[in-house]
Amino acid sequence: MSRSACLDRFRDSAPLVLPSMLLCDFGNLHREVRLLEEAGVEGLHLDVMDGHFVPNLTYGMTIVRAVRRLTDLPLDVHLMISNPADYLTSFREAGADVITIHAETVADPRPLLREIRQLDAVSGLAIDILTPISRITDYLDDCDLVLAMSVATGFGGQEFDRGALDKMRSLRETGGNDLLLQVDGGVNRTTVTSCAEAGADLLVVGSAIFRQSDYGSAVDELQTLARTV
Ligand code: DX5
Ligand code: ZN
Repeated sequence: MSRSACLDRFRDSAPLVLPSMLLCDFGNLHREVRLLEEAGVEGLHLDVMDGHFVPNLTYGMTIVRAVRRLTDLPLDVHLMISNPADYLTSFREAGADVITIHAETVADPRPLLREIRQLDAVSGLAIDILTPISRITDYLDDCDLVLAMSVATGFGGQEFDRGALDKMRSLRETGGNDLLLQVDGGVNRTTVTSCAEAGADLLVVGSAIFRQSDYGSAVDELQTLARTV
C-alpha cells in the first residue's frame, strides 16, 4: 500500500483500534489474522523488539513478511530496536506500510523519517513514557504519525500511564490535525475513551483483545467506546 493510501485509510476511519501482534497465538498466525479481519480491524500493529533497546526479543522481517502474505491490511510496524536506520528498507520490503522508530534510538530522527517517506511508507516517531514531547517537537514536520507510549516500552499487559494523555493533547496542538496520534500500551475498555478524548487516532490494543476468547466482540466494544467521543 502507498503512503498516501495508508494515510487516507487511517484518517478516514479514525479513531481506530489496531491489534498489537505481540500476545497473539503465533502458532496459529493464519487463524489469528483471519479472526482479526473478521473482527473488522483496519490494520495490524507489529511489535519488533531486539532485546537491546528494550529488554525483550520478539521478531523481525521474517514475521512481517509472513503476515504480509496473509493479509492486505495495512501493517503498522513499531520498531523497538537500536540502529533502526540499518533496517528501514528491509522492513519496507518485508511489507511494512507504517514504520515507526523510537526517538530514544537516534540523535537526529529527521534523516530516517525522510527515508521512510522516500520508501513510500508512513513515517512514525515514538516516545517512551519517560521522554518529554520537547524531544520531538522539532521533527513533527517529518512525521506522519507520533506514537506516545502509555506503558514502559517492551512488554504487553501493563498498566496504562495517564501521562500519555497530556502528551497527545499537546501534540495535537503543536502538530496540527493532519498528524496521526497513536497511543500504545494498557489501552482497554476503561482507558480507551480517555485516549480518544485526548485526540488519539490509532489505539493499539494487545491484551484487551488477545486475552479475550472472542476477538470480534472485544474489538467492537473498544471501537464503539472510542467512537462515542
Ligand atoms: C509494548 C508494545 C505494545 C503492547 C501493547 O512495547 O509496543 O504494542 O504490546 O499491549 P497491551 O495492550 O497489552 O498493553
Ligand atoms: Zn507497539
